[in-house]
Amino acid sequence: MAITDDVAELTAQRFGRTTFTGGERVPHVGDAELPPGPRWPAWLQSVALLRFRHRFHPYLHRRYGDVFTIRLLPGGRPLVLFTRPEHAKEIFAGDPEVFHAGKGNSILGPIMGEHSLLLQDGEEHKRARKLLMPAFNGHALRGYRSLVTEVARAEVAGWTPGAELRSLDRMNAVTLEVILRVVFGVTDETRLAELRPRVTATVDVSPAVLLGWGYPWLQKVGIWKRTVENQYALDRLMYAEIRERRAAPDLAERTDVLSRLILAGDDGDRLDDTELRDQLVTLLLAGHETTASALSWALYEVGRDPELLARCQAAADSDDDELLDAVLKEAMRLHPVIPMVVRTLMRPATIAGIDLPAGTTVGPSIIMAHQRPANHPDPWAFRPERFLGQNPPPNTWIPFGGGVRRCIGAGFSLMEGVAVLREVFRSYDVTAVGDDEPKVRNITSVPRRGARIRVTPRRRQG
Ligand code: HEM
Repeated sequence: MAITDDVAELTAQRFGRTTFTGGERVPHVGDAELPPGPRWPAWLQSVALLRFRHRFHPYLHRRYGDVFTIRLLPGGRPLVLFTRPEHAKEIFAGDPEVFHAGKGNSILGPIMGEHSLLLQDGEEHKRARKLLMPAFNGHALRGYRSLVTEVARAEVAGWTPGAELRSLDRMNAVTLEVILRVVFGVTDETRLAELRPRVTATVDVSPAVLLGWGYPWLQKVGIWKRTVENQYALDRLMYAEIRERRAAPDLAERTDVLSRLILAGDDGDRLDDTELRDQLVTLLLAGHETTASALSWALYEVGRDPELLARCQAAADSDDDELLDAVLKEAMRLHPVIPMVVRTLMRPATIAGIDLPAGTTVGPSIIMAHQRPANHPDPWAFRPERFLGQNPPPNTWIPFGGGVRRCIGAGFSLMEGVAVLREVFRSYDVTAVGDDEPKVRNITSVPRRGARIRVTPRRRQG
């Protein structure tokens, strides 16, 4: 079959599906008593959680204490949020057969596909995770470093000295290029030029587009039609790349993520083309703007502290990654990119001594874990020292979630972030321009004004 025919079929199948997580259905929650929470209508609580999470989590914590319940659409289903580290630990350690994570992400199914690591649970998740893990271990990460540095260097070299930049936009450009070259491993310039707009449109998928999937007729009009068309175009390029890569004579020597995934597993069990596509799109959506947001906050915070900037520049000059790593981690603490992680209980469970019925969604609030003074003294101060030669107490710094679902790209994003900061601080003095605050963009939190900075050529000492 010609590649265009079977890809069209695969894309259409994905958009025609209504469920994306296999196995058991989410049980119906009875009317068991749950921890306290607001009595507002579910739509209002949903809006508050989605749009105003940075104020809503602290408000609920002040008003209701360490554990509280939010009621969400559809049907007022309960989400119970926990704020203490020992409760986060209980959730992360929960039996994966009971604590399902894929259910909460099923809305992303038409884009990510049914095999996506983010959407799977139980045995399927375990198998996919096992096949993906080697591409993200320490050895593999060291192999990606030089290409990431090359991408970062090219980006930084293009900046105009003295210019004011929205660092979020520049970091989005770098992390996108890293996904294309280091994760997908694309080197052909023509294919890169074709992929860029398709990939950009894919990551820009808005909540309105996602909510429309419930109504298949919408796929024939407006933004929904354009989304399906873009997905088909992206799929065509991705399947072409995957099929060519399988046949590449240097496949075994290549160090990009896709090439490693093609060779992952053994002859009895490897990822097929559809699985590879789904995992690559997942890595794109999970790894692009998240890392860009963390990086832009890091540049903004260092740009507000000349003394810290000087130390970062000295560290960059001497290839000392420790401080840059700490700066990035502290940026993720003070400005969490993802507000919470959630699990849906497939059977009743007890957390924090509270009996919760099957069907309840539970999760630690990352926002609260990162701003409780008991976890991080003087929480509003940007202080990379919290991560120098020490780590905060367990389960108080959880930007990547935890347990068997902990972000598979955590090490990748730190390696990438340090490489980018190193290149920026080697070349420039960075000054933050104006103030900024977090805002919600799709799933992630990003700086509302783009974390603006001014970059000027370094005034070298001595
Ligand atoms: C600052 C950057 C990042 C942040 C803050 C972040 C955060 C997260 C969080 C909170 C989760 C859910 C964990 C849980 O449920 O316990 C997650 C999962 C995931 N992330 Fe990341 N992430 C980042 C970068 C990346 C990168 C660079 C990649 C890939 C290249 C990636 C790929 C994934 C995948 C595939 C999952 C699903 C894991 C699973 O369900 O087993 N992420 N991430």
